[in-house]
Order: sequence, then structure tokens, then C-alpha cells
Amino acid sequence: MVSTFTPVAGGPLATAAWHELGRLARDRGRLSVAAAFATDPARADAFAVEAEGLLLDFSRQRLDRDVLGALLRLADERGLRSAIEAMFRGEIVNVTEGRQVLHVALRGARTPLDDAAANPWGADIARAVLDERGRMLAFAAAVRCGDVRGSAGRPFTDVVNIGIGGSDLGPCMAVEALRAYADGPRVHFVSNVDGCDLADALADADPATTLFLVCSKTFTTQETLANARSARAWLAEALGEAAVREHFAAVSVNAAAMDAFGVHPDYRFVLWDWVGGRYSLWSSIGLSIAIAIGVPRFGELLAGGAALDRHFRKASWEANLPVLMALLGIWNVNFLRLPTLAVLPYHARLRRFPAFLQQLEMESNGKRVGLTGEAVEYETAPVVWGEPGSNAQHSFFQLLHQGTPRAALDFLVGAESSCGRPEQQQLAIANCLAQAEAFMRGQHGVPAQRIHEGDRPATVLAFRRLDPWTLGHLVALYEHKVFAQSVIWGINAFDQYGVELGKKLCDGVLPLVRGERPPAEAPPSLRRALAFLRRDAPGN
Ligand code: F6P
Repeated sequence: MVSTFTPVAGGPLATAAWHELGRLARDRGRLSVAAAFATDPARADAFAVEAEGLLLDFSRQRLDRDVLGALLRLADERGLRSAIEAMFRGEIVNVTEGRQVLHVALRGARTPLDDAAANPWGADIARAVLDERGRMLAFAAAVRCGDVRGSAGRPFTDVVNIGIGGSDLGPCMAVEALRAYADGPRVHFVSNVDGCDLADALADADPATTLFLVCSKTFTTQETLANARSARAWLAEALGEAAVREHFAAVSVNAAAMDAFGVHPDYRFVLWDWVGGRYSLWSSIGLSIAIAIGVPRFGELLAGGAALDRHFRKASWEANLPVLMALLGIWNVNFLRLPTLAVLPYHARLRRFPAFLQQLEMESNGKRVGLTGEAVEYETAPVVWGEPGSNAQHSFFQLLHQGTPRAALDFLVGAESSCGRPEQQQLAIANCLAQAEAFMRGQHGVPAQRIHEGDRPATVLAFRRLDPWTLGHLVALYEHKVFAQSVIWGINAFDQYGVELGKKLCDGVLPLVRGERPPAEAPPSLRRALAFLRRDAPGN
């Protein structure tokens, strides 16, 4: 019998640390980081942690040792340590849906199965993970070497992942980030419902050498099913209905729906309801990644995530990268009242990382009620946004430096080039560090238009090179940051009821778009837009 996690009662407002932080925020609201550097020669070391091959430099955040101390006490008072253990032991942490939360097992499961230290989630989960991972990786390897082929006997040159949300963003981000390691078939991603993603992916594709991966945890998602049906029609038209079985693989918990779609039994892979979509790239949902970079490198990605898991579980709060990132976020959101977080990778191949984090952070912690449904009286997830740093400098950095809205900033940068251009990597590093300094120090004693106030809080997260291991670290780092914040805020990071209303309403709107007369009670706002959008529709 799986036990349900019991969180610390009362929420963050019931802690002494929260009130202490409120007092410190009033006192330190005007803290100048540049002045703090001038008076504290040890600041650069005191507010930076090097662990797991990463540097988390938060010395440019607007906090001092008293604030940091109170934040660390907040983690204790909110029972973070026992919440982390509960997740790893497989207790029901997703209390609103009554589910375990075990994406950590997807990368951590090891033999021997009954080694409780290696598999705190238990032998049954470990066995299921290892068996399914083995099947998925064997299939990926067979696609890569041409043992699995299309219906005409030709190896696959193009693989099209059809999925959305967690069944797209993580794999798409990872395949792009690890392009330096991609030596398999070309991998494309199709998510949007309007059909243009699919049209673009198929523009130069040959049906005889194209494999589709339909990834959908539920296999009920409208966008994914619409794209999958179109893809199936495209393929069947070119190669005949019988070819479909050899050109479609699928990943889902929904076996009946995979049956109905006609997915070959050997080409289907499962995941479990204890994996949230946005935490699923480590599962068979990562099939596209394994096909792109190969089995050993996919293993390194998992190992990087698992190493960060061990760090999260064992490191003291002072040295704990995800916990520190969580606490900095809470200081910025709740006490410095910065409602957005800009994510700025100085690495073009991390271009989908901000989009991946948008789902991870905002679908997880974009909540307004606590675990028992009570309204929370404080802000929760920030709005996350971002763009590779070089592009960002030439678009929205003006606002960040001199505009009236303020944001917290995460800079990400690697020591080494991923594409054999070390001089250009030096430029990227120089720009990243220069911008972080400019945001912190500002510019004073100049004409009004040139003044930069400074004190825009920034964290620099540095890594050596963007390899599979490091990407595993980065993703797990943000995953655990999000979980730690949810524990402190007393909300459930693992449900997403907020996405359902719009989906439900769409069922009623679609017939009107298709031509049905709107009923008398249809809202005027809807009628007005429909009248325009349907004006020139065929048949009108
Ligand atoms: O709409 C939100 C959501 O449910 C996400 O949580 C999920 O990642 C996405 O849709 C896709 O869901 P599925 O994998 O079931 O198609």
C-alpha cells in the first residue's frame, strides 16, 4: 500500500522565516549589490556554489547573508527534506490526483533491483523502468542501424515526432541542444494543430523512409491526434494502408488507443501515470532523442540527471544547487516582487530551453490554491520567458536595463564551444559576463538617458560543455528547483487542471467554426469573431 505524503501544515505564512524575510525585504529593499561587493571582499565566493561540474553564481542577486540564512531556514521550516525523501520513496506526492511522482526513477533505476539504497522507489518500479527502457533503446538502435526499416525495405532517413507539451518540448529542446552529438536519422518535431508544422516537416520527406513517433501520454490530445491522422493519411496515400504499421511507433499509457490507431505491438512503448508529461523526456517519450544521439549518449543524459538527483537528495542546503535556485526565486517573486524570470542561454542550441522551462515552471507551479484547495495569499510561479542571450541583447535588453518593469535573470553559459569555434565562444562568454555586470552595477553620473539604475538581480549558471551529461544536469536542476518551490509554497506541482477549461470549450466551438449556426445563447464575443473568421470560408 503506497502511503500519501503529509506536508507541513500551515503554509509558508505560518513560518517564522517568512516573516523574517518580509522584515529583511523592507530593510534591504534598497540594497545595492555593487556597494555590497565593495564592503564584502568575500562576496563573490560567499554567494556562489560549484558542484556537479556547474557553477551557480548568485552574487549579483539582491541579498545578503541574513537573507540567505532566513531563506535556508524557510526550507527547513517547510519540511523540504522530508518532502524530497517522500518523492524519492514513491509516496503519493501528487495529492490532488492521488499519484506518485517518479521521474527520478526513470533515470535512477539500477540493478540489483532489491537494493533499496539504489532504488528507493522499490524493485517493482525499477524493474518496469529497466525493462521498458531496454525495449525502447533496442528499437532506437535498430532504427539507427537500419535493422528496422520502412515497408519498402529502405532504412529510415527522417523521424517525425508528433506530440505536444511534455511530449514535444523536452525531446525537441534536447535534440536541438545535443545537435553536436546527432548522428542518426534527421528528427523533426510537429506539435501545433494548424497543420503547418506537419506540412513543413513533410515538405522534403520521402514516405518510404519516414518514421512517425506519436507521443502522447493520454493519446487523447486533440492536436496530436489531428497531426497523427493527417500524417497517416499522407503515408497511406503514398504507400498504401498496409504500410502504416511499419511507419508508426507510439508512446502512451493508453494501449486501447494505440490499438485503435493500428500501432504495431513491437513499435509501441509505455510510460506510467506516475510520470508527469513535462517530466517525461527521460522515459520512452525520449525515443526521438535516443534515435538522434544513440543509445550510449542517451544513457549519459540519464546519468547526468541521476547524478543531480543524488546531489539534490544529499547536499546541505548551503551547497544544494536546486534548493538555492528555488530559494532565490522565492526571494525575488515574493519579497522583491519581481513577477517574471528571463532565461538567457548564451548558447544558440539552447534556443528551446526557455520554452521547455515555460511548461516546466508555469504548468507546474502556476497555481492559486494550496494542497487542500485553500486560496494562497502570496504569488507563486513567475512568468518565465527568454531567448538566447545574443538575440536578447538586440531586442529586449533595452527594457531590462532601463525600462520600468523589472525581471529576475538567469544567464546560462558554457566554457567550451559546441561547434568548434572557440573564438566565438569567447565572445559569447564575454557578452554574458559583461551583461550580468551591467545589470548589477548599472551606470551613474551620466545624462539621464544614459543612466542604468543597475541592481537587476541575475544568476549566472555556468557549465563546461553542452554534452548529454550536462544537459541531464541542467534539466534535473530546474525540475528540482520547481519541486522545492512547490513545497515551500504549499502547492501541487504535478497537476494541471488549468489547461482543461479551454479544451472543453473547444469541443463546443468547433462545430460553429465548421458551419453550424451559433445557438441563441452563444456569447457575443464568440459570434463576432466567428462572423469575421468564417466570412470567406468555403461554402459560405
Ligand atoms: O495540455 C496540457 C497537457 O496535458 C500537458 O500536461 C501535457 O504535457 C500535454 O498536454 C500533452 O499531453 P499528452 O502527452 O497526453 O498528449
